[in-house]
Amino acid sequence: MARKQAILLLCIAALSMSHSWVERLMVFHTDGAMVGAPGYARGTVSRLDPSFNDFQMQHLLPQSSESGITPTDRICKATQTIGNYTAEFPSLQAWPGAFIALQYQENGHVTLPQLTPQKKDSGTVYIYGTSSPSDEDTLASIHRVWNEHGTGGDGRGRLLVSRRFDDGQRYQINEGPISKERQNRYHKVAMDPQGADLWCQNDLRLPLDVRRRYSLYWVWDWPTAPSDALPEGKAEIYTSCVDVDIVSDIEQGKMSFVDGQDLNLAGIKEQLVDKE
Ligand SMILES: *[C@@H]1O[C@H](CO)[C@@H](O)[C@H](O)[C@H]1NC(C)=O
Repeated sequence: MARKQAILLLCIAALSMSHSWVERLMVFHTDGAMVGAPGYARGTVSRLDPSFNDFQMQHLLPQSSESGITPTDRICKATQTIGNYTAEFPSLQAWPGAFIALQYQENGHVTLPQLTPQKKDSGTVYIYGTSSPSDEDTLASIHRVWNEHGTGGDGRGRLLVSRRFDDGQRYQINEGPISKERQNRYHKVAMDPQGADLWCQNDLRLPLDVRRRYSLYWVWDWPTAPSDALPEGKAEIYTSCVDVDIVSDIEQGKMSFVDGQDLNLAGIKEQLVDKE
């Protein structure tokens, strides 16, 4: 029993150090199921690489808690420069107005909230889009500055959507009550690359006026709530930077979501309907 508990604690400690990034992007068919080849974030490194560790993909801001977020902090990780793709992890191929998903793992931030009592919840994801990205783009000039109308800040891009980090379904397999409840309610057959887990997703529709390449900045804003010890609270932000290749003209218009699909591939209805 003691040994089992020690192992459980070790697992929890490992989980609590892991943070999320965009693992995969997919395009939706008009029935709301993912189809075609996956795309990835810039500079993606294989999890199967023997030397892989989370810090190759994770981009945390501020970099140190003393400094806070500075005006020069880049929104993208240094390895996530524009167009940094490989044949193994290519960019997503889509079209103007395509419905797409950005998928990520929850790492216990949703199903084991007791690991992070200093957080009110699992936070919010903001997804910004631009046709004219720059490797110099800073977090402070974009996050909570670019707006839905494209008139914020320098006007080079816009806020496409903001979504709860917890999409209401996703889970990783663990013994916590939230995970167990969701394993029942959102049951699926284990399938790679998710395995038995159900990844989280942010679904959105690309704008209609995009050409050639469209870049997305995925910003997970997960602040520590103000407390006696930390009256101002504390910023904690993770980002992933993504390019989408716009390879054809508009292929389809309307989403007619079909309920009851295989959850390995299904989108989230509330995030997909009424978006045309
Ligand atoms: C591209 O990404 C790879 C993998 O993350 C990284 O090793 C490399 O330094 C990156 N190159 C550039 C120019 O950013």
